[in-house]
This record gives sequence, structure tokens and C-alpha cells, in this order.
Amino acid sequence: MPLSKTEYLSDSWKDGIFANKVVFCTGGAGTICSAQVRALVHLGANACIIGRNVEKTERVAQDIATARPGAKVIGIGSVDVRKLENLQQAVERCVKELGGIDFVIAGAAGNFLASIEQLSVNAFKSVMDIDVLGSYNTLKATLPYLKESASKHIMDSKTLQPLPIGTGGRIIFVSATIHYRGMPFQSHVSVAKAGIDALSNSVAIEYGPRGLTSNIIAPGPIAQTEGLERLLPSDALEAYTKAQPLGRFGHVRDIADATVYLFSDTGSYVTGQTLVVDGANWRMSAGGASGGSLSYPDFLLSGDDVPNVTGKK
Ligand code: HXC
Repeated sequence: MPLSKTEYLSDSWKDGIFANKVVFCTGGAGTICSAQVRALVHLGANACIIGRNVEKTERVAQDIATARPGAKVIGIGSVDVRKLENLQQAVERCVKELGGIDFVIAGAAGNFLASIEQLSVNAFKSVMDIDVLGSYNTLKATLPYLKESASKHIMDSKTLQPLPIGTGGRIIFVSATIHYRGMPFQSHVSVAKAGIDALSNSVAIEYGPRGLTSNIIAPGPIAQTEGLERLLPSDALEAYTKAQPLGRFGHVRDIADATVYLFSDTGSYVTGQTLVVDGANWRMSAGGASGGSLSYPDFLLSGDDVPNVTGKK
């Protein structure tokens, strides 16, 4: 069932603000990223979403295209973000079919629960490769087009005066908040997210003079995601909801609106920042070791391993 407009976008934005813009998004078939892209498409952009599963990625692309009559949305599945050549081929197709790339969302990520002792070296490396190397590859493959897009906006070529910066040459890395404190069974993901944050900050400094902006969106617990189901025991849901400062979990729309802000004219002077969209969840979860849940799970207190909740083969 496609989301209704109010499920992925607030009424704060004018239709057409992203007309003629193209967004390239890894992890684009996932719950959060597909809502981010859908909001941009609704507001005029065309899009290319990248995923690991051909059927799912193409289906989500078609679904996103219903957000606006005439929208062009390409879904490219079977892309392993760990392989630069895979991404470069996808970028080539995006540019050929949609004419360029103005915005990038680096959203592909790997995640499962495992204690430090349970993690194999290869398991740790897999998440680092998907998250950190994957984000780097996404940046590297799209950078020529981001630079080209930014250069159209940064300077009036005759007067050399800065123009009101348009919307182009912008990248958002999707990160998290778990590494601010540490979280049990998420050491691999925490290290990876810290790396992504460092990458974004470096891009902002290194490519600011070329007109690029680079920011991180750090979602907190988002109600509709598998990640939340994985991390939170279902019997703790009600108590955990009540413990949130705003009394609710995040919604994908919260992340989509933040994305629109950072890519819009309104966000043109914001770069090298992390926009934490979590309803102050991470500040509230000062217990740290409980990672925001209300208590340590029993198996940790009893010294057992993480139960196999994520279907490891
Ligand atoms: C322990 C596991 C495991 C598990 C896989 N591995 N699942 N170890 N517990 N549940 C180990 C494998 O045994 C193997 O190590 C290594 O990881 C690589 O596994 P592969 O099967 O070869 O698959 P690979 O393609 O490398 O990818 C593995 C994967 C990926 C990272 C698990 O399939 C994946 O990301 N799946 C979930 C996607 C997802 O949910 N994305 C949303 C992210 S949400 P050995 O030693 O056996 O070879 C997000 C939010 C973060 O990022 C914030 C949260 C609060």
C-alpha cells in the first residue's frame, strides 16, 4: 500500500521546489530512505534508488513514482555498495536516464544484534564494509556529478558574486545515535556509524569551497522500521514509548521532512552538521548500557549470548 502524503511529508513545503533535480539514494528500498525519496519526488525531483534486491527495489521505485504525476523513478537492484564498480554503473545509468545528480542520500546499512564475543571478524568487517566503505563508494561514484550540480549554483560567472545558493551538490549520510554512548550488541554498527559521521564532516570541509554541502541525519527509533522491532522486545514497547520525551517514537515523515529541509534553499548554509531527529531519545537514554530500553535484557544479566533473533544462517 503506497503511503498517503501525510505519512511522508508535512504541509510545510511548496510543491515544485525540487523541479528538475535528481536524487540518487542507496538503501532506497528501505523504510526510511524510501520515505525520504518519496518526499523529494513529491516536491518535484526525479530519483534513482539503489538496493540489493532487484524485485523489491523496482517495486519500491514504481511505488515512489506514484507520489507525483510524471515523476521518473528508477530502481536499480543487485547493487553491492561494497563494490565501487557496481555503484559507478548505477550512477552512469542514473545520469544517462535522468540527466545528472543533484542530491545524494547514502543510506545503505547492515545491522544485526551480536555481542562482541559472538561477532566473527568477518561479521564485523561486513558491517564496516557495507556502512563505511559503502558510503565512501557512494560519495566517490557521485562526486563528479555533485560538483557539477553545485557549480551551477555557487557563483555568478560574470560578476563572481555568490548567487543565492540553489539546491544542488548536496549529500546526506544516514547515521544513528547509538555510538554517542555505546550500545550493547551493536559495537560493529556503532563503530561504522562513527566512521560515517567522520566522512561527512570531512566532505563538508574538503568540498565546501566547491559548493557542496554534506550533512548527517541521525534518526532515533522510528516506529515503522525492522530495526526497532529487532532492538526492542515487544513486551517493552509500551513502557519504552511512554519514556520518550515526546511520548512517541519517530515517524518516517520526521526523517523525510529533515531531508527536505537540508536539500532546500532554506538549508543552503547548513553543512558539516548532524541533524539528530530522535525526539531527544538519546539524551533520555542516559543509562547507556540499556541503549535506551528500560533495563538490561535478562540474557545479558545471566551472561548468555544474544539469542538468535535475526535469523543468522
Ligand atoms: C552474528 C552474523 C549475523 C548475526 C550475519 N553474520 N548475520 N553474525 N549474528 N545475526 C555474519 C556471518 O556469519 C558472516 O560471518 C558475516 O556476518 C557476513 O555475513 P553474510 O551472510 O556473508 O552476508 P553479507 O552480505 O556480508 O551481509 C551481512 C549482513 C546483511 C550485514 C547481516 O545481510 C545485512 O545488513 N542485513 C540486514 C540489513 C538491515 O537490516 N539494514 C538496516 C540497517 S538499520 P562469518 O564469520 O560467518 O563469515 C541501521 C540503523 C542502525 O543501520 C541504528 C540502530 C539503532
